[in-house]
Amino acid sequence: MPIQSVVKMGNAQLATPSVPFAGSAAELRAIVQDMQDTMQEKGGIGIAAPQIGINQRIVLFGFDSSERYPNAKSIPFTVLINPVIHIIGDEMGDGWEGCLSVPGMRGLVPRYTHITYSGYDMDENPIHHTVHGFHARVVQHECDHLDGILYPERIKDMHYFGFEDELGDIVKQSLE
Ligand code: NI
Repeated sequence: MPIQSVVKMGNAQLATPSVPFAGSAAELRAIVQDMQDTMQEKGGIGIAAPQIGINQRIVLFGFDSSERYPNAKSIPFTVLINPVIHIIGDEMGDGWEGCLSVPGMRGLVPRYTHITYSGYDMDENPIHHTVHGFHARVVQHECDHLDGILYPERIKDMHYFGFEDELGDIVKQSLE
């Protein structure tokens, strides 16, 4: 059963910090396949293992084009195990985010603009990338899940948090 149900905000599992992945290659493949299938089925651009009920430090992200983020530049598909983020500089920018665990809602979230992230891929090769803008935002959002943090906790002005169909134009005009 590759497509899993997505754990939603309010479930204690999403607020629980995840442990480093230390399982076998076969376990990893099975978890990543489930994450990928679930993300694709829901139309997401990223997913973290706790969102399918697995509190281990695995995220994946990437898309060519996305209905959820119609103006965003594509991000290469990336599986990232035991990620670590290093922030470059102190520049931050606001952008609208959504989350498969907070369905139907959007919020304006400040994130660091420039980061380096590292970790391992499926074959235990080290990954080390420097990214900016929306790519950096997505990585920060997914890695927050591993620390038990959901994007609504990062919103500075709660006027800019609500149901997508009610927020209407303010979101549509400024979505990545
Ligand atoms: Ni999310």
